[in-house]
Parts: sequence; C-alpha cells; structure tokens
Amino acid sequence: MNKSISGFSKLSKSQKIDWIVNTYFSNTNNAKQVIKQYWNSDEKLQQLHDEFIENTITNYYLPLGVAPNFLINNTLYTIPMAIEESSVVAAASKAAKFWMDRGGFKTEVISTTKIGQVHFLFQGDFKVLHAFFETIKDKFLTDAKSITQNMEKRGGGILDIELRNKTEDLQNYYQLHVKFETLDAMGANFINSCLEQFAKTLKAEALNYEAFTEKEKHIEVVMSILSNYVPDCVVRAEVSCKVDDLTEKNINGKAFAEKFVQAVKIAEIEPYRAVTHNKGIMNGIDAVVLATGNDFRAIEAGVHAYAAKNGSYSSLSHAKIEDDVFTFWMEIPLALGTVGGLTGLHPLVKLALEMLNNPSAKELMQIVAVAGLAQNFAALRSLTTTGIQQGHMKMHLMNILNQFEATDAEKATLTKHFEKHTVSHSAVVSAIENLRSNA
Ligand code: MEV
Repeated sequence: MNKSISGFSKLSKSQKIDWIVNTYFSNTNNAKQVIKQYWNSDEKLQQLHDEFIENTITNYYLPLGVAPNFLINNTLYTIPMAIEESSVVAAASKAAKFWMDRGGFKTEVISTTKIGQVHFLFQGDFKVLHAFFETIKDKFLTDAKSITQNMEKRGGGILDIELRNKTEDLQNYYQLHVKFETLDAMGANFINSCLEQFAKTLKAEALNYEAFTEKEKHIEVVMSILSNYVPDCVVRAEVSCKVDDLTEKNINGKAFAEKFVQAVKIAEIEPYRAVTHNKGIMNGIDAVVLATGNDFRAIEAGVHAYAAKNGSYSSLSHAKIEDDVFTFWMEIPLALGTVGGLTGLHPLVKLALEMLNNPSAKELMQIVAVAGLAQNFAALRSLTTTGIQQGHMKMHLMNILNQFEATDAEKATLTKHFEKHTVSHSAVVSAIENLRSNA
C-alpha cells in the first residue's frame, strides 16, 4: 500500500478519513467508528474545532478538572485544569486546602517584558552599522505605527530596540533585540508583525544609507521572531507559615519542614532531580495553561531555559526555615494572554477564564504560578513522607479498573477494598480475578 500522498490537505474531511483508515487499518470500520465517536453532534462547534488546525479528523479529549479552595492574595479561586495524569488535580486540591487553612498563597508579578529579535548578517564595520542604526531608530517605530497604534492606546507597545553585535559567537551575525509590553495579549502575532516590519525597514534603509559600502548596503535578514525565553516576564508565588503549623496527625511540623527544605536543596544542586522536581511544577502549570487556551509549549520552553539560566539546570522553587517560619516560593517566567488566540474562540477556554473571573494576563500569571507551586508542594510532601506511590496508585486505580472493563459494581467494591490495601497493578489484577471468580 502506498503510504505517501500529495494534495492531502485539499481532500474533504471524509476523504481524508477514508485514506487514513484504508492505508493504516485492517479493521477499517472500527477505526472509522473510533474517529467518528469523538465528533461533536453540534456541527458548528465541530467546524470550529476542525478549523483550529489543518487536516483535523476528530477531537482529542483531555479531562477538564477543577481544583477548588485556592486562596491567592486573599481571594478564593477554583482553578480549571486540563490534564490526563490521574493524581494531578487531586494533589492540587489537597495542597490548596492545606494552604487555605494557613493563610493561602501570596503572589506578585515582578515584570512583564517580552522579547523579539531580528537576526541578520552584515558584512562590514560595526561602528558604521551602529551609526546607521542610530539614524534609523525612529524610523523603525514610525514604519510600525499601523501595527502598534492600538497596543499603544492601551498602554503597551515597543519599549526598546537595541542593536547587538554577536560576531564574537558567529561571523557577521547581528541582532535587533527588541523589548515589548503586550498587556493582556500573549503577543506573539503582535511581536512577530512588528519584527517583520523592522526587518523590512532595516533592509530598505540600508540600501539608501550613503555611508555604507556596496557590500554593507546588502543586509541579509535571516529571520524575525519572538523569543520564548522571557526572563523579564516573571511572577513570584509563595506560601509561608510557622513550622509548628505544619504539624498534622502523623507529621511533626519541624521535622517535615526540615526534610522538605532538604528535598528542595537537592533539586537546587542535582540536575537529575531538578528536572523531575520541575516536571512536577509543570504538571500544575501546563494544566492551567492548557485550560485557559495558552501555548504550553512556549511556557515549557521558557520555563526550562529559565531553570538553566545560571549555567546548570536547577530547581525553580526554593524553601527555607528562618526563625521557625517555613517559606516555600518560586519565581517563574510566564508569558500568558487572556485576550486573543484561542481565548475568545474555544468555548471551554472562555468558560475556564470566566471561572477565574476573567483575569488580566497579570492575574493569570499569578494563578498559574500558584498551581505550579501547589503541585510542587504536594509532590514533595508525598515524597518526603509516605512516598509518591500511595497517592499516585490510589488515583491510578480507576485506570487499571477501566483497562479490565470493570463494571460500576466492581469498581465500587474494589475502590472500597483498596481503601485499606496497597494499590499495585498486580494487587488490582488479583482482586478483580478474585471478585469475578467468586461472582
Ligand atoms: C509526577 O508526575 C511528578 C513527580 O515526579 C514530581 C516530583 O518528583 O517532584 C511526583
């Protein structure tokens, strides 16, 4: 069977599905049925989803859960989370409740600047290039006026354009390094449009610049694109309480706090641990980022680069005990938007944002950071006390039961059984077998 095809994107949706099922599946009816069972019966809604991307054949569901009781700067939130991992929402909810009883989360947006760059090659003298740049600096802004005027009216826009000489690292390589304030928009389209206009201005003005030699006049723009590294778009989230207030039934507050701080210190100096530690933070962050229609790949890339900003990959969060007060905090770059993109389009995204009281981008940065810190707290709390598997497997129990197509009655019996027994894959399998053989 020929598995290559040309003009695929031009086929109708049903032609695409036919080609896929005939090319890749032996049971074509079953494949078609699986694809179609995820279609929405509301045709308009389905069309909306079809048109988000090219070559849509169906929808891919993720659960949208909610974690209530998040007290952030004295306001209560229920946080929407789109994620498939069984224990994440449960852990977030538990951490939220824990800190709600201890003063809640405190957050602060530290900065909101975003960066974009025009990467170009120039064959000549940097001093001459710099003089040229100074003469056309204002022209960049005037030429981009039609793109920037609305953003400027709202208080945002281009903050600064800098010429950077990168020739020590790469021959003939220079940049326009541009700072932006994009307010409630994530700003990717705005930034990229500005950059592409700067590139045009740069090339056109160079051709007319008399002090340039013929060679210097021909600036080669390699690309113009925003950076997902946003070390100046940073939010801080923190929890803090007396060490004694961490005491619970089987847990001594002081001993717990000390072990917790130790666990964070390990993640600060050991990259193998730091990556997993930060992955736990991203469990919370990605879930809210996704639920609110933001670009989780951009967030992931930016956050991990930030975690390595001092030359070695390290923990994003930190903890200390001072004067018997435990403090756990994190500073994290989050370039988020609450207008534009999917935010006004995807009905579930609109719902998620409304649940959060239609936050500004700054407010969303704080909420998302808190979800990350809460998740990290929950993970470290389990890891340093009971171990992660107890809670994890409890939540995973339903997945195993579903794998064995357990009925509702079987699920009820076995869930009760595993309240008192340790969940492992083999323990669940034998419990199901036992139950079924005794039925
Ligand atoms: C699992 O998704 C996340 C954890 O591994 C995070 C951590 O180890 O801190 C539990």
